Amino acid sequence: MAATGNSNLDETFYRGADSFFTANADIGLTFDDITLATLYSDILPSQTKLDSWLSETLQLNIPIVSADMDTVTESRLAIALALNGGLGLIHYNMPEKEQLGEVSRVKYHVQGLIQDPIKVSPDQVIGDVLKLIEEKGFGFSTFPVVDGKEKLVGLLSGHVVKPRYASKKVSEALTPRGQVHTVTKKELGNDPIAIADKFFTEHVGIHKLLVVDDEDRLHGLITMSDVERITQERKAQFKPARDSQFRLICGAAVSATRNAFGELDRERILNHVGALVERGVDIVAVSTAHGHSKGVGDTVKVVRDAFPNLPIIAGNVTSAAGVEYLADCGANVVKVGQGPGSICTTRVVAGVGIPQMTALYVCSKAAAEKKISILADGGITKSGDIVKAMTLAQGVICGGMFAGCAEAPGEVVEIGGKLYKQYRGMGSLSAMKAGSAARYGHDKADTTRKVAAEGVEALKEACGPVDRVLASLIGGIQSGMGYLGAENLEQLRAKARYIRVSPAGQREAAPHDVVELKTRN
Ligand code: XMP
Repeated sequence: MAATGNSNLDETFYRGADSFFTANADIGLTFDDITLATLYSDILPSQTKLDSWLSETLQLNIPIVSADMDTVTESRLAIALALNGGLGLIHYNMPEKEQLGEVSRVKYHVQGLIQDPIKVSPDQVIGDVLKLIEEKGFGFSTFPVVDGKEKLVGLLSGHVVKPRYASKKVSEALTPRGQVHTVTKKELGNDPIAIADKFFTEHVGIHKLLVVDDEDRLHGLITMSDVERITQERKAQFKPARDSQFRLICGAAVSATRNAFGELDRERILNHVGALVERGVDIVAVSTAHGHSKGVGDTVKVVRDAFPNLPIIAGNVTSAAGVEYLADCGANVVKVGQGPGSICTTRVVAGVGIPQMTALYVCSKAAAEKKISILADGGITKSGDIVKAMTLAQGVICGGMFAGCAEAPGEVVEIGGKLYKQYRGMGSLSAMKAGSAARYGHDKADTTRKVAAEGVEALKEACGPVDRVLASLIGGIQSGMGYLGAENLEQLRAKARYIRVSPAGQREAAPHDVVELKTRN
Protein backbone atom coordinates (compact mmCIF):
# COMPACT_ATOMS: atom_id res chain seq x y z
CA MET A 1 0.00 0.00 0.00
CA ALA A 2 0.98 3.64 -0.26
CA ALA A 3 1.79 4.75 3.32
CA THR A 4 4.21 3.09 5.75
CA GLY A 5 5.75 4.06 9.08
CA ASN A 6 8.69 5.56 7.22
CA SER A 7 6.67 8.00 5.12
CA ASN A 8 7.93 10.90 7.32
CA LEU A 9 11.41 10.07 6.15
CA ASP A 10 10.25 10.46 2.56
CA GLU A 11 8.75 13.85 3.38
CA THR A 12 12.03 15.01 4.92
CA PHE A 13 14.01 14.19 1.79
CA TYR A 14 11.47 14.48 -1.03
CA ARG A 15 9.54 17.68 -0.69
CA GLY A 16 6.47 19.22 -2.30
CA ALA A 17 6.95 22.29 -4.48
CA ASP A 18 6.31 24.98 -1.84
CA SER A 19 8.62 23.45 0.73
CA PHE A 20 11.32 22.47 -1.79
CA PHE A 21 11.60 25.72 -3.75
CA THR A 22 11.34 27.90 -0.64
CA ALA A 23 14.14 25.89 0.98
CA ASN A 24 16.19 26.47 -2.19
CA ALA A 25 15.31 30.15 -2.57
CA ASP A 26 18.96 31.17 -2.72
CA ILE A 27 19.80 29.20 -5.85
CA GLY A 28 18.41 29.11 -9.37
CA LEU A 29 17.59 25.53 -10.33
CA THR A 30 16.94 24.06 -13.73
CA PHE A 31 15.76 20.69 -15.03
CA ASP A 32 18.96 18.71 -14.47
CA ASP A 33 19.42 20.19 -10.97
CA ILE A 34 16.42 18.31 -9.65
CA THR A 35 14.80 14.92 -9.89
CA LEU A 36 11.31 13.73 -9.01
CA ALA A 37 10.68 11.09 -6.35
CA THR A 38 8.58 8.09 -7.34
CA LEU A 39 5.33 7.38 -5.52
CA TYR A 40 3.01 4.43 -5.04
CA SER A 41 1.18 3.89 -8.33
CA ASP A 42 -1.72 1.90 -9.63
CA ILE A 43 -1.58 3.72 -12.94
CA LEU A 44 0.01 2.27 -16.06
CA PRO A 45 1.70 4.80 -18.35
CA SER A 46 -0.73 3.90 -21.14
CA GLN A 47 -3.66 4.89 -18.91
CA THR A 48 -2.46 8.44 -18.31
CA LYS A 49 -4.21 11.41 -19.88
CA LEU A 50 -2.34 14.44 -21.15
CA ASP A 51 -5.05 16.97 -21.90
CA SER A 52 -4.46 20.47 -20.66
CA TRP A 53 -6.52 23.67 -20.76
CA LEU A 54 -4.52 26.72 -21.84
CA SER A 55 -7.50 29.03 -21.46
CA GLU A 56 -11.19 28.57 -20.70
CA THR A 57 -11.86 27.89 -24.37
CA LEU A 58 -8.65 26.29 -25.61
CA GLN A 59 -7.81 22.71 -24.75
CA LEU A 60 -4.79 20.73 -25.91
CA ASN A 61 -4.80 16.93 -25.98
CA ILE A 62 -1.05 16.89 -25.36
CA PRO A 63 0.61 19.81 -23.54
CA ILE A 64 3.18 20.53 -26.23
CA VAL A 65 3.46 23.77 -28.20
CA SER A 66 6.00 24.51 -30.94
CA ALA A 67 7.98 27.74 -30.76
CA ASP A 68 7.06 30.72 -32.97
CA MET A 69 10.50 30.71 -34.57
CA ASP A 70 11.29 31.01 -38.27
CA THR A 71 13.25 27.75 -38.35
CA VAL A 72 10.56 25.85 -36.43
CA THR A 73 6.87 26.61 -36.97
CA GLU A 74 5.10 27.15 -40.26
CA SER A 75 1.95 25.36 -41.41
CA ARG A 76 3.51 21.93 -42.00
CA LEU A 77 4.80 21.63 -38.45
CA ALA A 78 1.65 23.23 -36.97
CA ILE A 79 -0.52 20.69 -38.84
CA ALA A 80 1.60 17.75 -37.65
CA LEU A 81 1.51 18.99 -34.08
CA ALA A 82 -2.25 19.68 -34.03
CA LEU A 83 -2.92 16.26 -35.57
CA ASN A 84 -1.13 14.81 -32.53
CA GLY A 85 -3.13 16.95 -30.09
CA GLY A 86 -0.72 19.88 -29.61
CA LEU A 87 -0.45 23.45 -30.88
CA GLY A 88 1.86 25.17 -33.34
CA LEU A 89 2.54 28.90 -33.11
CA ILE A 90 3.18 30.23 -36.62
CA HIS A 91 6.11 32.67 -36.51
CA TYR A 92 5.89 36.27 -37.72
CA ASN A 93 9.27 36.62 -39.43
CA MET A 94 7.50 36.83 -42.76
CA PRO A 95 5.15 39.29 -44.44
CA GLU A 96 1.72 39.43 -42.81
CA LYS A 97 0.03 38.07 -45.95
CA GLU A 98 2.24 34.99 -45.89
CA GLN A 99 1.57 34.39 -42.22
CA LEU A 100 -2.18 34.58 -42.88
CA GLY A 101 -1.75 32.01 -45.66
CA GLU A 102 0.12 29.71 -43.26
CA VAL A 103 -2.72 29.96 -40.71
CA SER A 104 -5.29 29.18 -43.42
CA ARG A 105 -3.34 26.10 -44.46
CA VAL A 106 -3.63 24.75 -40.92
CA LYS A 107 -7.26 25.72 -40.43
CA TYR A 108 -8.35 24.19 -43.74
CA HIS A 109 -6.19 21.11 -43.53
CA VAL A 110 -8.74 18.58 -42.40
CA GLN A 111 -12.39 19.22 -42.16
CA GLY A 112 -15.29 17.20 -40.85
CA LEU A 113 -18.62 18.91 -41.28
CA ILE A 114 -17.53 22.27 -42.64
CA GLN A 115 -20.38 24.46 -41.51
CA ASP A 116 -19.42 27.49 -43.53
CA PRO A 117 -17.65 26.12 -46.60
CA ILE A 118 -15.92 28.47 -49.02
CA LYS A 119 -18.34 29.06 -51.89
CA VAL A 120 -18.13 30.61 -55.32
CA SER A 121 -20.79 32.29 -57.44
CA PRO A 122 -21.91 31.29 -60.97
CA ASP A 123 -20.80 34.68 -62.39
CA GLN A 124 -17.16 34.37 -61.34
CA VAL A 125 -14.59 33.09 -63.80
CA ILE A 126 -12.34 30.13 -63.01
CA GLY A 127 -9.38 32.56 -62.96
CA ASP A 128 -10.96 34.32 -59.93
CA VAL A 129 -11.24 30.97 -58.17
CA LEU A 130 -7.59 30.15 -58.87
CA LYS A 131 -6.60 33.56 -57.45
CA LEU A 132 -8.67 32.90 -54.31
CA ILE A 133 -6.94 29.54 -53.79
CA GLU A 134 -3.52 31.15 -54.21
CA GLU A 135 -4.27 34.14 -51.93
CA LYS A 136 -5.85 32.17 -49.10
CA GLY A 137 -3.53 29.19 -49.35
CA PHE A 138 -6.38 26.67 -49.67
CA GLY A 139 -5.30 23.06 -49.97
CA PHE A 140 -8.47 22.12 -51.90
CA SER A 141 -10.07 23.19 -55.16
CA THR A 142 -13.68 21.92 -55.16
CA PHE A 143 -16.29 24.52 -54.21
CA PRO A 144 -20.07 24.59 -53.84
CA VAL A 145 -21.66 27.19 -56.12
CA VAL A 146 -24.48 29.33 -54.66
CA ASP A 147 -26.56 32.22 -55.92
CA GLY A 148 -27.05 35.58 -54.15
CA LYS A 149 -29.59 33.99 -51.77
CA GLU A 150 -27.20 31.17 -50.76
CA LYS A 151 -29.26 28.66 -52.78
CA LEU A 152 -27.27 25.77 -54.16
CA VAL A 153 -26.64 26.07 -57.91
CA GLY A 154 -24.09 23.28 -58.32
CA LEU A 155 -20.62 22.06 -57.46
CA LEU A 156 -17.40 23.34 -59.04
CA SER A 157 -15.17 20.27 -59.20
CA GLY A 158 -11.39 20.50 -58.75
CA HIS A 159 -11.00 18.82 -62.17
CA VAL A 160 -12.08 22.03 -63.90
CA VAL A 161 -10.28 24.53 -61.65
CA LYS A 162 -7.27 24.70 -63.95
CA PRO A 163 -5.42 27.63 -65.58
CA ARG A 164 -6.46 26.40 -69.06
CA TYR A 165 -10.11 27.19 -68.14
CA ALA A 166 -9.26 30.53 -66.47
CA SER A 167 -11.52 32.62 -68.71
CA LYS A 168 -14.52 30.27 -68.48
CA LYS A 169 -17.42 31.20 -66.24
CA VAL A 170 -18.14 29.03 -63.18
CA SER A 171 -21.70 28.58 -64.52
CA GLU A 172 -20.30 26.92 -67.67
CA ALA A 173 -18.01 24.55 -65.76
CA LEU A 174 -20.06 23.46 -62.76
CA THR A 175 -21.78 20.13 -62.11
CA PRO A 176 -25.46 21.17 -62.09
CA ARG A 177 -27.62 21.07 -58.96
CA GLY A 178 -29.57 18.00 -60.13
CA GLN A 179 -26.41 15.89 -60.20
CA VAL A 180 -25.02 17.04 -56.85
CA HIS A 181 -25.49 14.74 -53.85
CA THR A 182 -27.05 16.48 -50.86
CA VAL A 183 -28.47 15.69 -47.46
CA THR A 184 -30.70 17.93 -45.37
CA LYS A 185 -29.70 19.22 -41.96
CA LYS A 186 -32.56 17.26 -40.42
CA GLU A 187 -31.39 14.00 -42.00
CA LEU A 188 -27.91 14.45 -40.49
CA GLY A 189 -29.25 14.23 -36.93
CA ASN A 190 -26.87 14.09 -33.95
CA ASP A 191 -24.07 12.12 -35.53
CA PRO A 192 -23.36 13.67 -38.94
CA ILE A 193 -20.11 11.73 -39.34
CA ALA A 194 -21.89 8.35 -38.97
CA ILE A 195 -24.58 9.36 -41.49
CA ALA A 196 -21.95 10.63 -43.93
CA ASP A 197 -19.85 7.49 -43.44
CA LYS A 198 -22.87 5.36 -44.45
CA PHE A 199 -23.61 7.63 -47.42
CA PHE A 200 -20.06 7.35 -48.82
CA THR A 201 -20.14 3.54 -48.47
CA GLU A 202 -23.43 3.38 -50.37
CA HIS A 203 -22.46 5.87 -53.12
CA VAL A 204 -19.38 4.43 -54.78
CA GLY A 205 -17.03 7.08 -56.18
CA ILE A 206 -18.76 10.08 -54.54
CA HIS A 207 -16.39 12.00 -52.25
CA LYS A 208 -18.37 15.15 -51.36
CA LEU A 209 -21.74 15.50 -49.67
CA LEU A 210 -23.41 18.91 -49.40
CA VAL A 211 -25.76 19.85 -46.57
CA VAL A 212 -28.82 21.99 -47.41
CA ASP A 213 -31.93 23.23 -45.60
CA ASP A 214 -35.54 22.81 -46.72
CA GLU A 215 -35.18 25.85 -49.02
CA ASP A 216 -32.10 24.30 -50.65
CA ARG A 217 -29.78 26.87 -49.07
CA LEU A 218 -26.25 25.59 -48.45
CA HIS A 219 -25.42 24.78 -44.81
CA GLY A 220 -22.33 22.66 -45.00
CA LEU A 221 -20.00 20.30 -46.79
CA ILE A 222 -18.69 16.88 -45.77
CA THR A 223 -15.79 15.19 -47.54
CA MET A 224 -15.06 11.47 -47.53
CA SER A 225 -11.37 11.83 -46.62
CA ASP A 226 -12.29 13.89 -43.56
CA VAL A 227 -14.89 11.36 -42.48
CA GLU A 228 -12.34 8.57 -42.79
CA ARG A 229 -9.76 10.53 -40.83
CA ILE A 230 -12.21 11.42 -38.08
CA THR A 231 -13.47 7.83 -37.82
CA GLN A 232 -9.86 6.71 -37.32
CA GLU A 233 -9.18 9.50 -34.83
CA ARG A 234 -12.02 8.37 -32.62
CA LYS A 235 -9.97 5.26 -31.88
CA ALA A 236 -6.67 7.07 -31.19
CA GLN A 237 -5.49 7.74 -27.62
CA PHE A 238 -4.44 11.33 -28.26
CA LYS A 239 -6.89 12.99 -30.56
CA PRO A 240 -6.05 15.89 -32.83
CA ALA A 241 -6.59 19.28 -31.26
CA ARG A 242 -9.59 20.77 -33.07
CA ASP A 243 -11.83 23.80 -32.74
CA SER A 244 -15.63 23.64 -32.45
CA GLN A 245 -15.89 23.35 -36.24
CA PHE A 246 -13.59 20.31 -36.43
CA ARG A 247 -10.73 22.41 -37.80
CA LEU A 248 -7.21 21.88 -36.48
CA ILE A 249 -6.19 24.49 -33.93
CA CYS A 250 -3.50 26.99 -34.77
CA GLY A 251 -1.76 29.87 -33.02
CA ALA A 252 0.19 32.78 -34.48
CA ALA A 253 2.75 35.25 -33.24
CA VAL A 254 1.99 38.97 -33.31
CA SER A 255 4.44 41.73 -32.62
CA ALA A 256 4.43 44.84 -30.42
CA THR A 257 4.94 46.87 -33.61
CA ARG A 258 5.95 50.54 -33.35
CA ASN A 259 5.34 53.34 -35.85
CA ALA A 260 7.88 55.80 -37.24
CA PHE A 261 7.55 57.92 -34.05
CA GLY A 262 8.41 54.98 -31.81
CA GLU A 263 4.84 54.70 -30.52
CA LEU A 264 2.87 51.46 -30.42
CA ASP A 265 1.21 51.07 -33.83
CA ARG A 266 -2.25 50.18 -32.49
CA GLU A 267 -3.94 50.27 -35.86
CA ARG A 268 -1.45 47.92 -37.48
CA ILE A 269 -1.55 45.50 -34.53
CA LEU A 270 -5.36 45.43 -34.60
CA ASN A 271 -5.53 44.95 -38.36
CA HIS A 272 -3.06 42.08 -38.07
CA VAL A 273 -4.92 40.35 -35.23
CA GLY A 274 -8.28 41.01 -36.95
CA ALA A 275 -7.05 39.31 -40.13
CA LEU A 276 -5.76 36.33 -38.10
CA VAL A 277 -9.10 36.01 -36.32
CA GLU A 278 -10.87 36.09 -39.67
CA ARG A 279 -8.72 33.14 -40.74
CA GLY A 280 -9.81 31.27 -37.62
CA VAL A 281 -6.69 31.58 -35.46
CA ASP A 282 -7.31 30.07 -32.02
CA ILE A 283 -4.73 31.97 -30.00
CA VAL A 284 -2.23 34.78 -30.64
CA ALA A 285 1.16 35.09 -28.97
CA VAL A 286 2.78 38.42 -28.18
CA SER A 287 6.29 37.02 -28.06
CA THR A 288 9.16 39.13 -26.84
CA ALA A 289 12.33 38.63 -24.86
CA HIS A 290 11.10 40.99 -22.10
CA GLY A 291 7.39 40.60 -21.47
CA HIS A 292 7.31 42.60 -18.25
CA SER A 293 7.49 45.82 -20.21
CA LYS A 294 5.16 48.64 -21.20
CA GLY A 295 5.17 47.87 -24.93
CA VAL A 296 4.12 44.25 -24.40
CA GLY A 297 1.54 45.12 -21.73
CA ASP A 298 0.02 47.82 -23.94
CA THR A 299 -0.09 45.47 -26.93
CA VAL A 300 -1.92 42.83 -24.86
CA LYS A 301 -4.38 45.49 -23.62
CA VAL A 302 -5.08 46.74 -27.16
CA VAL A 303 -5.77 43.19 -28.38
CA ARG A 304 -7.80 42.27 -25.30
CA ASP A 305 -10.04 45.36 -25.64
CA ALA A 306 -10.74 44.70 -29.31
CA PHE A 307 -11.09 40.89 -29.04
CA PRO A 308 -12.55 40.10 -25.61
CA ASN A 309 -12.80 36.34 -26.24
CA LEU A 310 -9.56 35.70 -28.09
CA PRO A 311 -7.04 33.69 -26.03
CA ILE A 312 -3.74 35.58 -25.74
CA ILE A 313 -0.29 34.27 -24.87
CA ALA A 314 2.25 36.87 -23.76
CA GLY A 315 5.82 36.80 -22.58
CA ASN A 316 8.51 36.13 -21.74
CA VAL A 317 8.89 36.65 -18.02
CA THR A 318 10.57 34.91 -15.10
CA SER A 319 9.05 36.79 -12.15
CA ALA A 320 5.76 36.69 -10.25
CA ALA A 321 5.36 40.45 -10.87
CA GLY A 322 5.79 39.84 -14.61
CA VAL A 323 3.03 37.21 -14.61
CA GLU A 324 0.70 39.46 -12.60
CA TYR A 325 1.35 42.39 -14.93
CA LEU A 326 0.57 40.44 -18.11
CA ALA A 327 -2.47 38.77 -16.51
CA ASP A 328 -3.80 42.21 -15.50
CA CYS A 329 -3.27 43.44 -19.06
CA GLY A 330 -5.46 40.59 -20.29
CA ALA A 331 -3.19 37.62 -21.10
CA ASN A 332 -4.66 34.13 -20.58
CA VAL A 333 -1.32 32.37 -20.87
CA VAL A 334 2.16 33.60 -19.95
CA LYS A 335 5.39 32.23 -21.38
CA VAL A 336 8.05 31.61 -18.77
CA GLY A 337 11.71 31.49 -19.77
CA GLN A 338 14.48 34.00 -20.29
CA GLY A 339 17.66 32.54 -21.66
CA PRO A 340 17.14 28.77 -21.24
CA GLY A 341 16.72 28.08 -24.97
CA SER A 342 19.23 25.95 -26.83
CA ILE A 343 20.08 28.84 -29.22
CA CYS A 344 19.77 31.62 -26.60
CA THR A 345 22.61 33.83 -25.46
CA THR A 346 20.55 36.31 -23.42
CA ARG A 347 22.18 35.21 -20.17
CA VAL A 348 25.66 35.45 -21.67
CA VAL A 349 25.06 38.75 -23.46
CA ALA A 350 22.79 40.61 -21.04
CA GLY A 351 23.61 38.78 -17.83
CA VAL A 352 19.93 38.22 -17.02
CA GLY A 353 17.55 35.30 -16.80
CA ILE A 354 16.60 32.66 -14.25
CA PRO A 355 17.16 28.89 -14.43
CA GLN A 356 13.97 27.33 -15.59
CA MET A 357 12.59 25.25 -12.66
CA THR A 358 12.98 28.12 -10.18
CA ALA A 359 11.42 30.56 -12.66
CA LEU A 360 8.54 28.16 -13.27
CA TYR A 361 7.85 27.73 -9.57
CA VAL A 362 7.79 31.48 -8.87
CA CYS A 363 5.63 32.17 -11.92
CA SER A 364 3.28 29.26 -11.23
CA LYS A 365 2.35 30.74 -7.85
CA ALA A 366 1.38 34.09 -9.40
CA ALA A 367 -0.42 32.38 -12.29
CA ALA A 368 -2.50 30.25 -9.91
CA GLU A 369 -3.59 33.40 -8.04
CA LYS A 370 -4.52 35.14 -11.29
CA LYS A 371 -6.20 31.95 -12.59
CA ILE A 372 -4.16 31.91 -15.79
CA SER A 373 -1.84 29.30 -17.32
CA ILE A 374 1.90 29.29 -17.87
CA LEU A 375 4.00 27.67 -20.59
CA ALA A 376 7.54 26.51 -19.85
CA ASP A 377 9.41 28.04 -22.79
CA GLY A 378 12.90 26.88 -23.71
CA GLY A 379 15.57 24.49 -22.54
CA ILE A 380 13.61 21.27 -23.11
CA THR A 381 16.02 18.66 -24.42
CA LYS A 382 14.39 15.40 -23.31
CA SER A 383 11.02 14.03 -22.20
CA GLY A 384 12.11 14.02 -18.55
CA ASP A 385 12.44 17.83 -18.74
CA ILE A 386 8.82 18.01 -19.86
CA VAL A 387 7.68 15.85 -16.94
CA LYS A 388 9.53 18.17 -14.54
CA ALA A 389 8.17 21.32 -16.24
CA MET A 390 4.62 19.95 -16.20
CA THR A 391 4.74 19.65 -12.40
CA LEU A 392 4.47 23.48 -12.45
CA ALA A 393 3.17 24.54 -15.87
CA GLN A 394 0.17 23.85 -18.13
CA GLY A 395 2.32 23.20 -21.19
CA VAL A 396 5.80 23.40 -22.68
CA ILE A 397 7.15 25.24 -25.71
CA CYS A 398 9.81 23.45 -27.72
CA GLY A 399 12.00 24.91 -30.44
CA GLY A 400 15.13 22.80 -30.71
CA MET A 401 13.23 19.52 -30.24
CA PHE A 402 11.35 20.17 -33.51
CA ALA A 403 13.87 22.16 -35.57
CA GLY A 404 15.41 19.00 -37.05
CA CYS A 405 12.01 17.55 -38.05
CA ALA A 406 11.09 17.00 -41.68
CA GLU A 407 8.11 19.39 -41.26
CA ALA A 408 10.23 22.31 -39.97
CA PRO A 409 11.03 25.01 -42.54
CA GLY A 410 14.33 24.84 -44.36
CA GLU A 411 16.32 22.38 -46.37
CA VAL A 412 18.24 19.39 -45.11
CA VAL A 413 22.01 19.82 -45.57
CA GLU A 414 24.61 17.07 -45.51
CA ILE A 415 27.83 17.68 -43.62
CA GLY A 416 30.38 14.91 -43.18
CA GLY A 417 27.81 12.24 -44.05
CA LYS A 418 25.27 13.50 -41.49
CA LEU A 419 22.01 15.32 -42.24
CA TYR A 420 21.19 18.64 -40.54
CA LYS A 421 18.64 21.46 -40.62
CA GLN A 422 19.25 25.11 -39.81
CA TYR A 423 18.08 26.34 -36.39
CA ARG A 424 18.60 29.93 -35.35
CA GLY A 425 17.63 32.12 -32.40
CA MET A 426 15.06 34.81 -33.14
CA GLY A 427 17.55 37.18 -31.50
CA SER A 428 20.38 36.13 -33.81
CA LEU A 429 21.51 38.89 -36.17
CA SER A 430 20.25 37.12 -39.28
CA ALA A 431 16.77 36.50 -37.79
CA MET A 432 16.53 40.09 -36.53
CA LYS A 433 17.45 41.36 -39.98
CA ALA A 434 14.67 39.18 -41.39
CA GLY A 435 12.16 40.87 -39.08
CA SER A 436 12.29 39.72 -35.45
CA ALA A 437 14.19 42.75 -34.08
CA ALA A 438 11.09 44.12 -32.26
CA ARG A 439 10.98 40.93 -30.19
CA TYR A 440 14.33 41.97 -28.69
CA GLY A 441 13.45 45.64 -28.22
CA HIS A 442 15.27 46.84 -31.35
CA ASP A 443 14.14 48.46 -34.55
CA LYS A 444 14.76 46.40 -37.71
CA ALA A 445 17.04 49.24 -38.90
CA ASP A 446 19.06 48.83 -35.68
CA THR A 447 20.43 45.57 -36.98
CA THR A 448 22.61 47.46 -39.42
CA ARG A 449 24.02 49.42 -36.48
CA LYS A 450 25.77 47.93 -33.48
CA VAL A 451 23.31 45.65 -31.73
CA ALA A 452 24.17 42.72 -29.49
CA ALA A 453 22.63 39.52 -30.81
CA GLU A 454 20.95 37.38 -28.16
CA GLY A 455 20.88 34.17 -30.10
CA VAL A 456 23.07 31.99 -32.26
CA GLU A 457 22.70 30.43 -35.69
CA ALA A 458 23.07 26.69 -35.46
CA LEU A 459 22.28 23.32 -36.95
CA LYS A 460 20.15 20.48 -35.61
CA GLU A 461 20.59 16.93 -36.69
CA ALA A 462 17.70 15.93 -38.97
CA CYS A 463 15.40 13.74 -36.90
CA GLY A 464 12.58 12.55 -39.18
CA PRO A 465 8.91 13.36 -38.89
CA VAL A 466 7.24 15.17 -35.98
CA ASP A 467 5.14 12.03 -35.31
CA ARG A 468 8.28 10.13 -34.37
CA VAL A 469 9.65 12.86 -32.09
CA LEU A 470 6.29 13.26 -30.40
CA ALA A 471 5.85 9.52 -29.92
CA SER A 472 9.03 9.37 -27.87
CA LEU A 473 8.25 12.57 -25.93
CA ILE A 474 4.72 11.42 -25.12
CA GLY A 475 5.96 7.97 -24.13
CA GLY A 476 8.41 9.60 -21.73
CA ILE A 477 5.80 11.90 -20.18
CA GLN A 478 3.47 8.95 -19.67
CA SER A 479 6.27 6.95 -18.02
CA GLY A 480 6.98 9.82 -15.64
CA MET A 481 3.32 10.06 -14.73
CA GLY A 482 3.16 6.31 -14.15
CA TYR A 483 6.11 6.56 -11.71
CA LEU A 484 4.26 9.24 -9.77
CA GLY A 485 0.89 7.48 -9.82
CA ALA A 486 -0.59 10.45 -11.67
CA GLU A 487 -3.49 9.68 -13.97
CA ASN A 488 -3.61 13.21 -15.39
CA LEU A 489 -1.56 16.40 -15.39
CA GLU A 490 -3.47 17.92 -12.49
CA GLN A 491 -2.49 14.92 -10.35
CA LEU A 492 1.10 15.22 -11.58
CA ARG A 493 1.20 18.83 -10.31
CA ALA A 494 -0.35 17.88 -6.99
CA LYS A 495 1.82 14.83 -6.36
CA ALA A 496 5.28 16.01 -7.46
CA ARG A 497 8.06 15.74 -4.82
CA TYR A 498 11.50 17.12 -5.60
CA ILE A 499 15.09 16.67 -4.49
CA ARG A 500 18.26 18.36 -5.74
CA VAL A 501 20.85 16.37 -7.63
CA SER A 502 24.60 16.60 -7.06
CA PRO A 503 26.99 16.81 -10.07
CA ALA A 504 27.81 13.12 -9.47
CA GLY A 505 24.07 12.40 -9.39
CA GLN A 506 23.71 14.12 -12.77
CA ARG A 507 26.41 11.90 -14.24
CA GLU A 508 24.73 8.88 -12.71
CA ALA A 509 21.43 9.89 -14.38
CA ALA A 510 22.75 9.44 -17.93
CA PRO A 511 24.26 6.29 -19.42
CA HIS A 512 27.78 5.94 -18.03
CA ASP A 513 30.72 3.56 -18.04
CA VAL A 514 29.51 1.86 -21.19
CA VAL A 515 30.19 2.22 -24.86
CA GLU A 516 26.81 3.25 -26.20
CA LEU A 517 25.93 1.34 -29.36
CA LYS A 518 22.51 2.81 -29.98
CA THR A 519 21.78 6.37 -28.94
CA ARG A 520 18.66 7.03 -26.93
CA ASN A 521 15.64 7.76 -29.16
P1 XMP B 1 14.65 25.60 -27.21
O1 XMP B 1 15.51 25.27 -26.03
O2 XMP B 1 13.43 24.77 -27.27
O3 XMP B 1 14.17 27.11 -26.95
O4 XMP B 1 15.44 25.57 -28.47
C1 XMP B 1 13.22 27.76 -27.76
C2 XMP B 1 12.86 29.08 -27.12
O5 XMP B 1 14.00 29.95 -27.06
C3 XMP B 1 13.57 31.32 -27.08
N1 XMP B 1 14.35 32.01 -28.11
C4 XMP B 1 15.41 32.79 -27.84
N2 XMP B 1 15.94 33.20 -26.68
N3 XMP B 1 17.60 34.38 -27.86
C5 XMP B 1 17.04 34.01 -26.69
O6 XMP B 1 17.54 34.40 -25.62
C6 XMP B 1 17.13 34.01 -29.08
O7 XMP B 1 17.68 34.36 -30.13
C7 XMP B 1 15.96 33.18 -29.06
N4 XMP B 1 15.20 32.65 -30.06
C8 XMP B 1 14.23 31.93 -29.42
C9 XMP B 1 12.09 31.31 -27.39
O8 XMP B 1 11.41 31.57 -26.18
C10 XMP B 1 11.85 29.91 -27.90
O9 XMP B 1 10.53 29.47 -27.70
